[in-house]
Amino acid sequence: MLRDIYNRPLKGLRISVTDRCNFRCTYCMPFDEYEWVDKKEILTFEEIARLAGLFVQLGVDKIRLTGGEPLLRRDLEKLIRKLSSLSGLKDLCLTTNGSLLAEKVSALKSAGLRRINVSLDTLNPEKFARIRRWGDLAKVLEGLFTAKSYGLDPIKVNAVIERGVNDDDILDLVEFSRKNGFTIRFIEYMDVGNSNNWTSEKLVSKKEILAIINARYPVREVGRNKGSAPSVDYEFIDGQGEVGVIASVSEPFCSSCSRARLTAEGKLVTCLFSATGYDLKALLRHGATEEEIIEVISAIWRKRTDRYSDERLEAMNSARGYRAKDHKKIEMISLGG
Ligand code: GTP
Ligand code: 5AD
Ligand code: SF4
Ligand code: SF4
Repeated sequence: MLRDIYNRPLKGLRISVTDRCNFRCTYCMPFDEYEWVDKKEILTFEEIARLAGLFVQLGVDKIRLTGGEPLLRRDLEKLIRKLSSLSGLKDLCLTTNGSLLAEKVSALKSAGLRRINVSLDTLNPEKFARIRRWGDLAKVLEGLFTAKSYGLDPIKVNAVIERGVNDDDILDLVEFSRKNGFTIRFIEYMDVGNSNNWTSEKLVSKKEILAIINARYPVREVGRNKGSAPSVDYEFIDGQGEVGVIASVSEPFCSSCSRARLTAEGKLVTCLFSATGYDLKALLRHGATEEEIIEVISAIWRKRTDRYSDERLEAMNSARGYRAKDHKKIEMISLGG
């Protein structure tokens, strides 16, 4: 099996299908203007499926489609249909902002999608508009409930928690999710990209998040799915559902990170906090053989040394400290988280 320098296998692939987004969340892309990748530079569905097939040959058994907002990519269900027929793939999922779910979920389900993760950081409409700027809460809720009515399962709700912004929404989100059968996951605010002005003061740690939940709805730890998932999961002691916490900052999980990322323009990226990626599209479009592409991907993975969040924590705990601005990264909006 293919393993990197720290013996981590390649098991997951997050594919960004577009860098476009119809939201401008303060924690991801707070600017109205953003330089889009030219359409002809974006991988076609055939190219994505071809690369995905090679990753599966290398051991990937889980693929997640991301964006920007993936549902902005026209006919996405056609890609889902192609990917769901890959033998060896055990899990195909989608992370979406939910705005177009209500209209798309029927086609997605028929094409073979079984589960989704939807971002929702507050149930307060004014606050939602402040955080997600171009987004409309009512559309996201409609999307969530339509997805539920079509039987997608599980439906996970992702809430990024920022101090002073929505740390007072945690219990509301827990209650909403318990009541409706969604799995809520709280995500520590991360210094993704170069634009969100992250500082450690804005972080609400996993420990604080759990204390708030536990005081009202006691939980017991279940652990990480397959030992490598970003989320540490908990079940409510009263049996009414699950909650997860993704603590990339306070409790990094780099030592078990088995995820690669493919950008919409075909770059292979080995860490969420990478500054650059390797141009697989150039190989594809210059007629490289499958063996050649597999060799390139394998060579990149074998020498992978990424452990950004571990290093961030080490710096935060040291005298030198950590400044997000000192590190240039690919924008989250084009990397899909
Ligand atoms: P499940 O398979 O349903 O557990 O999904 P997931 O948590 O792997 O994916 P999702 O797209 O829902 O991402 C949730 C949060 O985890 C987002 O904020 C991602 O940026 C973050 N995340 C996912 N993978 C990584 C990773 O490898 N490193 C870091 N630092 N964050 C990650
Ligand atoms: N910190 C943590 N998570 C983030 N996401 C976007 N920006 C950030 C950030 N700064 C999350 C979104 C979405 C997922 C793909 O990444 O909420 O659920
Ligand atoms: Fe928000 Fe997701 Fe769009 Fe980023 S990609 S601006 S997190 S909806
Ligand atoms: Fe993996 Fe990089 Fe996230 Fe660490 S910071 S878990 S190496 S993607």
